[in-house]
Amino acid sequence: MADNKAQLIIEGSDPVELPILRGTVGPDVIDVRGLTATGRFTFDPGFMSTASCESKITYIDGDKGVLLHRGYPIEQLADNSDYLETCYLLLNGELPTAAQKEAFVSVIKNHTMVHEQLKNFFNGFRRDAHPMAIMCGVVSALSAFYHDSLDINDPHHREVSAIRLIAKMPTIAAMAYKYSTGQPIMYPRNDLSYAENFLHMMFNTPCETKPISPVLAKAMDKIFILHADHEQNASTSTVRLAGSSGANPFACIAAGIAALWGPAHGGANEAVLSMLDEIGDVSNIEKYIAKAKDKNDPFKLMGFGHRVYKNFDPRATVMKQTCDEVLAELGINDPKLQLAMKLDEIARNDPYFKERNLYPNVDFYSGIILKAIGIPTSMFTVIFAVSRTVGWISHWKEMLSSPYKIGRPRQLYTGYDKRDYLPLDSRK
Ligand code: CMC
Repeated sequence: MADNKAQLIIEGSDPVELPILRGTVGPDVIDVRGLTATGRFTFDPGFMSTASCESKITYIDGDKGVLLHRGYPIEQLADNSDYLETCYLLLNGELPTAAQKEAFVSVIKNHTMVHEQLKNFFNGFRRDAHPMAIMCGVVSALSAFYHDSLDINDPHHREVSAIRLIAKMPTIAAMAYKYSTGQPIMYPRNDLSYAENFLHMMFNTPCETKPISPVLAKAMDKIFILHADHEQNASTSTVRLAGSSGANPFACIAAGIAALWGPAHGGANEAVLSMLDEIGDVSNIEKYIAKAKDKNDPFKLMGFGHRVYKNFDPRATVMKQTCDEVLAELGINDPKLQLAMKLDEIARNDPYFKERNLYPNVDFYSGIILKAIGIPTSMFTVIFAVSRTVGWISHWKEMLSSPYKIGRPRQLYTGYDKRDYLPLDSRK
């Protein structure tokens, strides 16, 4: 993998030779591990120039707008695959054969229920608790229920935990929603697809079981596929870091959920809707575009921009198409959705956004679709967490399947040098 070497010249010291590593595709990577021996570290807050691991799962080319899972373009997966098949691909590296797919779908369906006692956890939360707060707590609590799959050094245990997490996340997410509404929890149904079952647990009640619209189930499945993995983003890196200490998989995924919650990451789809509320009307768009451009104003256009995609977000292209389909199918004429479409049009033509390559990202459209489906805003990030669980657990498994070290970044210390303790009466 190391074809070439880089030389680091440090004034007054011997040059340091650093191997250059080459991936299958993508930029070369300078291996700085040997630098420690010279008593120096690299400094890269925000990991703007740092690869934290080697991975075979997902590849992104931000300039070209490319996203590949195990080599397959996201557009092809979104058009031809379904979420559980994509999960199999991410976890195992290859698309399943028909028999493998059947077996995988069956095993997932047979793990969708949660331990009855887990229900008690929900009663400890306020009814108006944010569902992401509930998710952090309840998913972490799974480690107190499924002791038989916690040996992280046993590949079979890792597999069973992965299955449990993918299968149970929609159930826990829907339970969190039902708890907030005061309605009875709906048990999962094995005769439905993953997406249909989720919508069933969200919207049906024991008194009324309505059939799930195929258009909405397809849109839901696409949202799941498009959020399934995104290489070393903040939440996935958090899962890897937590996992590197030997923490159990349920605790690691709970850490990922916490990292996802922030508005700069998974919380953005919820933030898009809050922003639309704040803007209120098409007549206010100009004022808010001016605020977004003002460096002294913290306001940002939520759902625009991306750390890696500096041209376009391929997920957003698929999502926009699904968004159009859902809005047409439902015949929705919601002023907030019209406002979103107008904002999209204006921002796309504004020089500030064009010069900085700030395009609508996947969260802009997924927020609009979820609203159209009738999912409450506070559940948006929860749905992102349900979808991303397979990505998190695939990265966790990949890390544990090869030699790894505990993640332990260093720092550039700029605090005081050593100084002596001052007794209370000598302090000013
Ligand atoms: N609205 C207005 N200006 C923006 C925005 C925005 N949404 N995003 C970036 N900029 C400006 C930023 O002020 C900077 O301007 P200048 O060059 O004049 O200083 C320039 O664009 C570059 O931005 P940056 O902050 O250096 O970019 P970043 O890579 O550090 O941040 C980001 C990426 C996604 C955190 C940021 O674009 C953002 O906060 N967007 C809104 C939140 C959002 O939609 N997040 C979801 C990301 S997609 C889902 C996921 O993968 O989690």
